Amino acid sequence: MNNDRLGLGVIGCGVIANLMYLPLVNRKIHGCMVELAAVSDNVAEKAAAAAQAFDARACYSDYRDLLAVPGVEAVLITTNIASHAEIALAAAAAGKHVLVQKPLAETTAEADAVIAEAQRAGVKLQVEPSHMLSPLCARARDVIASGALGTISSVEARATHSGADDRPWLFTRAGGGSVMLDMGVHALTWAASLAGPVGRVAAFTRTTVPTRTINGQAHDVDIDDNVALLLEFESGALGNIVANYTTIADQAPQYSVYGTEGTIHVGAPGSPFQLYVHKEQYGGSQGWLSPTLFRGHKARPVTETTPYEAHGVQPDTSLGHFVECILEDREPVPGGEFARHVLEIMVKGAEAGRTGVAQQISSTFKPLAG
Ligand SMILES: NC(=O)c1ccc[n+]([C@@H]2O[C@H](COP(=O)([O-])OP(=O)(O)OC[C@H]3O[C@@H](n4cnc5c(N)ncnc54)[C@H](O)[C@@H]3O)[C@@H](O)[C@H]2O)c1
Repeated sequence: MNNDRLGLGVIGCGVIANLMYLPLVNRKIHGCMVELAAVSDNVAEKAAAAAQAFDARACYSDYRDLLAVPGVEAVLITTNIASHAEIALAAAAAGKHVLVQKPLAETTAEADAVIAEAQRAGVKLQVEPSHMLSPLCARARDVIASGALGTISSVEARATHSGADDRPWLFTRAGGGSVMLDMGVHALTWAASLAGPVGRVAAFTRTTVPTRTINGQAHDVDIDDNVALLLEFESGALGNIVANYTTIADQAPQYSVYGTEGTIHVGAPGSPFQLYVHKEQYGGSQGWLSPTLFRGHKARPVTETTPYEAHGVQPDTSLGHFVECILEDREPVPGGEFARHVLEIMVKGAEAGRTGVAQQISSTFKPLAG
């Protein structure tokens, strides 16, 4: 490809595509014009509406027609969870770079097939969510790698809200809904990004709200909408994960890392990144700090909030990174290996919830350097 132009196809023109990605196309990213070469949605009206609103060159109801367009060099997959693996596999086989919404697949076998096909075809594979790219996550990794927290003993992460009231598929197994796959993936991505690979998972899972009003109509819920996982990391640290659609409001830290020498809290939107250390060389004085930078840091007492934008789940972060990796022939973060590890924790977590038996995790990944 020429580095001045990248033809992007967007498959799945629903809420997330319209909100997070489509407003970013047909403009230069890292000096490369990212053109919306085509869109696809199996609901033809949705594809047509997105094509018109975001100036797509072509529009299809069958994603295979989009994959046949030579000018589509990379695709963004923003369909329902159940179709991610099938579409990612077909896209890689067609020689397209792939950025796929989370999770990569519903089963580890499907994930393996996608990863193998992307490798065979020599295309990039990037999987949402992009928390690892977030400045907050990078900052937390720096702090941990510096030794400021001592030995990491435990990690807590929460991904909760009250559940979308406009997308019924999220609440049915047949539709591919799963709070573990849809929300647990966020908390597990943070936890594994900060504490490394997981070796064992135990879980409790349940349906707390069996009937919901969606688009004004009552719907039965046949998924677990409330899950709690316990993790044992390969490092020996322990983890505590909560993911649900049953929380109305939450001001608890979303991600916390506890070490023998310090603590990090990454808060709910709008609240500060907080660090507690009692070693002079890392934080200055003993106490809670909100460091602006850790390398060459300026540490100061907690008075200011870290803006929500710094959470880095912003789409131009992941789309920008994807484009950059294609242009510079680099491995995306996170790629298939990490996404596959997180998926295995979720799949085995669901099994642990069903059976009451802790499950071994067989996959691993190479953590990013601090
Ligand atoms: N990163 C985040 O913070 C975040 C937040 C919410 C949702 N998501 C993820 O984004 C994805 C989409 O979620 P959404 O909320 O936009 O759902 P949605 O239902 O609004 O959109 C999905 C779209 O995909 C279309 N579609 C389904 N199967 C298709 C197929 N085979 N070919 C073409 N189009 C198809 C549907 O018609 C629909 O328009 C999910 O994987 C979800 O987990 C991510």
